[in-house]
Amino acid sequence: MKGLILSGGRGTRLRPITYTSAKQLVPVANKPVLFYGIEAMVEAGIRDIGIVVGDTQAEIRAAVGDGSAWGVRVQYIEQDAPRGLAHAVLISRDYIGDDPFVMYLGDNLLNKGIKPFVDEFLRERPAAQILLARVPDPQMFGVAELLNGHVKRLVEKPKEPQSDLALVGVYLFGSEVFDSVRRIKPSFRNELEITDAIQDLIDRGLTVRPHIVDGWWKDTGKLEDMLEANRLILETLDRRVEGQVDGASRIEGKVVIEPDAVIERSVVRGPAIIGARARIVHSYVGPYSAIMNDVEIRDTEIEHSIVLEGSVIHDLASRIEDSLIGKNVKIYRLPVKPSAYRFMLGDNSEVGIRW
Ligand code: DAU
Repeated sequence: MKGLILSGGRGTRLRPITYTSAKQLVPVANKPVLFYGIEAMVEAGIRDIGIVVGDTQAEIRAAVGDGSAWGVRVQYIEQDAPRGLAHAVLISRDYIGDDPFVMYLGDNLLNKGIKPFVDEFLRERPAAQILLARVPDPQMFGVAELLNGHVKRLVEKPKEPQSDLALVGVYLFGSEVFDSVRRIKPSFRNELEITDAIQDLIDRGLTVRPHIVDGWWKDTGKLEDMLEANRLILETLDRRVEGQVDGASRIEGKVVIEPDAVIERSVVRGPAIIGARARIVHSYVGPYSAIMNDVEIRDTEIEHSIVLEGSVIHDLASRIEDSLIGKNVKIYRLPVKPSAYRFMLGDNSEVGIRW
């Protein structure tokens, strides 16, 4: 069994963060989303992983390397443009050979991993096994219609969904899928859709097994989903305080403080994680915050937010909430009057001010 992780694509729904970073490397609880996928594969016994990469390949290669950090062999497969999930399968033909494989979308997270699904697939050996989850907004996903427990029809992002069962971004395939990805035509969004390839397997009378996931599943492609995934993962962390905490600070609940972080005259209320060498001074870091390495927070309150490496936040009058703050961002109060906002924001930035 081989693994195929898709880490190309453009990440338009997470701009401006994705102008400079691959969306699969945005951290959830201070760990890139992509690493959770690699770990899920390792846990399922997969040792050979192909990673499909696009424009952001340099960054992905730098983060994952040859896979030896996880005890796996990683090979990179270059996709010239995001031409669709089925196109990613098509160009991976030589790497996969005749092995069955699990395809994992690099921005997806499943709390219970994939081992039970891989085991079930290897036991039953259908042409494909798909994972489904009930969602409130099925028009945002590939949607499955089931009849007596069998997959009847799959539609990508239907305007009028016939069920609330979304396709989760983890698929198990035998080599039958390669004929299907060659047979289908580009969709309304001009992509070769994996949903259409699986429909083609059904139309050819091959077995496509559905499996409804019971744990949680998140596609982290949008800010709210990213924050929710962060919340769900932070809740699973065990308390570990390795940095320096002064006597005037309080660390409450499930909190991870990485080595060489410094907490002074502050309250950190979990679940939360503070990265290595971060400095939290005279501040409040509230539940569901993930503060990455080398961040400095001074005279500020923040909660339910993700702050990436090297950012500096000082002297804010109101609490920061529900935010994703990129790398090396500076947010501070100027010590001069009159009061005013002064911004230098990248394209597609978003600032919300609550009174
Ligand atoms: O998250 C589940 C959904 O993922 C499914 O319900 C949909 O049926 C499926 O089409 C997919 O929809 P998205 O629109 O969310 O896919 P997205 O374009 O975000 O791409 C998913 C991942 O695959 C992402 O990590 C980028 C990568 N990718 C995407 C494309 C289109 C590639 O590596 N190459 C590509 O050509």
